[in-house]
Amino acid sequence: ARPRVWVSQPLFDDIVARLETHFDVDATREVADHAPERIAEALREADGALVTLNDPVGAAQVAAASRLRAIANVGVGYNNLEVAALQAQGIVVTNTPDVLTETTADFGFALMMAAARRITEAERWLRDGQWRGWSFKSLLGADIHGSTLGILGMGRIGQGIAKRAAGFGMRMLYHNRHRLPEEVERECRASYVDYETLFAQADHAVLVLPYSAQNRHLIDAATLARMKPTATLTNIARGGLIDEAALADALAAGRLAAAGLDVFEGEPNVDPRLLALDNVVLTPHIASGSLATRRAMVSLAVDNLIAALGFGPDAGKPRNAIPHAVLPR
Ligand code: GLV
Ligand code: GLV
Repeated sequence: ARPRVWVSQPLFDDIVARLETHFDVDATREVADHAPERIAEALREADGALVTLNDPVGAAQVAAASRLRAIANVGVGYNNLEVAALQAQGIVVTNTPDVLTETTADFGFALMMAAARRITEAERWLRDGQWRGWSFKSLLGADIHGSTLGILGMGRIGQGIAKRAAGFGMRMLYHNRHRLPEEVERECRASYVDYETLFAQADHAVLVLPYSAQNRHLIDAATLARMKPTATLTNIARGGLIDEAALADALAAGRLAAAGLDVFEGEPNVDPRLLALDNVVLTPHIASGSLATRRAMVSLAVDNLIAALGFGPDAGKPRNAIPHAVLPR
């Protein structure tokens, strides 16, 4: 019999159809918020699966999935997957880096600029009919050019943001688990600083680091208190990095000028206190969302799944296999 694969969400049919060359495909037709038991059921008879960040897959979901050999995540972040537990069961896990780097960096820069220059707030004000003639002092924001950018997480996307910032004449600071080679620092024109210095000196801080339980609420009240009251904070990584209640407090009290958030801890629910604030730009997790890039992500995930299940030109060697994680004790 042909191997069976489950596709957890509606993606692009013409690309997903490539799976049918090798597999029987069970494709989800409507955007779904699958219950954990439903995911377990879908995986029970599957040899492989294409999933997204909406679909948590862990030990409980694969316990009865004796044939499952590969899970291809459509996305670069894979905190929706218990990677160590899946790998311990012999399941290959892949993601989609690289193809979304530039698109995501574009959006991070746009979101930072929108927060600093109050673009969405100004538009709401105009649409509300509040514009009664040009006024010299309303809706004044903060400059991007010549300011100090702080990048937390200097992977591919962080470096993409640094490239853009160079064109705006920004001074660039970064913090990362591992310091980059000097040559790369020079190329990015970014200086390594410790975590505290980054937040103390940044006029605009941007979060682009991978999320895990270890860095939940890393950006807490203490971090926010270090920031300049004129500064902005932009998050295109994962919502759980920020203590959203502490952020809402800081924004409401004017201890932080503005924020740009594309990700939230309880997606798709957004903290009502954030919704009520004018000085935060809120977008629904769309940083990688250009049509070309979303298609490229699905295409890469399909290639990864085909290869991980032993077919196609890269049989047995998917391009984006996630390295073996160490099982937590
Ligand atoms: C989107 O958030 C991704 O990780 O690709
Ligand atoms: C994150 O994985 C990145 O590519 O920056």
